[in-house]
Amino acid sequence: MLIRIPRGWEIPERDATPESLVFGRRATLKAAAGLGVAGIAPLAWSSPAVAQGLAAPRDARFQPGREITAEKDATTYNNYYEFGTDKGIHHAAQKLPLSPWTVKLDGLVDTPREFALEDLLKTMPLEERVYRLRCVEAWSMVVPWTGFPLAALLKAVGPKPEARYVRFETAAVPSAMPGLRQSWYPWPYIEACTVEEAANDLSFMVVGAYGKPLPPQNGGPIRIHQPWKYGFKAGKSLVKISLVAQRPKTFWESIQASEYGFWANVNPEVSHPRWSQASERVLGSGERIPTQLFNGYGEFVSGLYTGLQKERLWA
Ligand code: MTE
Repeated sequence: MLIRIPRGWEIPERDATPESLVFGRRATLKAAAGLGVAGIAPLAWSSPAVAQGLAAPRDARFQPGREITAEKDATTYNNYYEFGTDKGIHHAAQKLPLSPWTVKLDGLVDTPREFALEDLLKTMPLEERVYRLRCVEAWSMVVPWTGFPLAALLKAVGPKPEARYVRFETAAVPSAMPGLRQSWYPWPYIEACTVEEAANDLSFMVVGAYGKPLPPQNGGPIRIHQPWKYGFKAGKSLVKISLVAQRPKTFWESIQASEYGFWANVNPEVSHPRWSQASERVLGSGERIPTQLFNGYGEFVSGLYTGLQKERLWA
């Protein structure tokens, strides 16, 4: 029997506006599918510098075309079910111990490794990217994230040719996360993408926001962000990244596959079964703007989906 669990993103139909779409221009593939690393030199980091801030050179390729969301809005309106199902979990999330923190890379790789967060901060090519985030609930924000390409991390362990998917496992810390007591959820929160999507230059490991270390409510100390996908694909507070041959079952897919699938690429033309995705509410101003195909990142990613038209790419 299917038990229907109400989700925070179940907005009433009246909050959605009628279809009026603006499409991104005809997409062309720019990003190479190989595991290339952005050509930005690594910065030297020391622990005191990390404690004070996490400034990094901004990557000018990513122009959001909209105002950056106020830090207060982005850090106090969050989806993080391990801490609770409402948006106001930022106080509760401060209980998550962020240090020491390690991320394990395992599965179908040449050299499985466990990285201490501070080593990633020292060795990975840190940069700032101003990316949009479009939640499946039809709200959005624009955040200056600090991080490094996921491709750089994968290169450090060497994915084997038989690896086809990347599985992201997020933290489950019962002493800090009251939501874990809701045992009907399939904890831990798992997300996944293909190896090709992971290798795309847009796939970004986020360790900071607004020039500071990433706060726990936004997925500190380290999360993934793939801005052409709905926000639920962005696993927070990652502890393990595994290269695997079979497509992993993701958290929301296990609960309601008909509404929250594996691919979840943003598409204003494909409605959620219970609301339109044609437009989005801008966090902070409350303005409603048209949603763009691939959240406006089609020029970087549309080539990833050639030949996959039979897949349910949009939800
Ligand atoms: N990761 C974990 N571990 N738990 C969650 O509940 N929520 C997802 C995603 N990552 C979630 C998660 C959803 S639905 C969204 S929209 C984004 O985180 C929100 O990120 P933000 O709080 O930084 O806006």
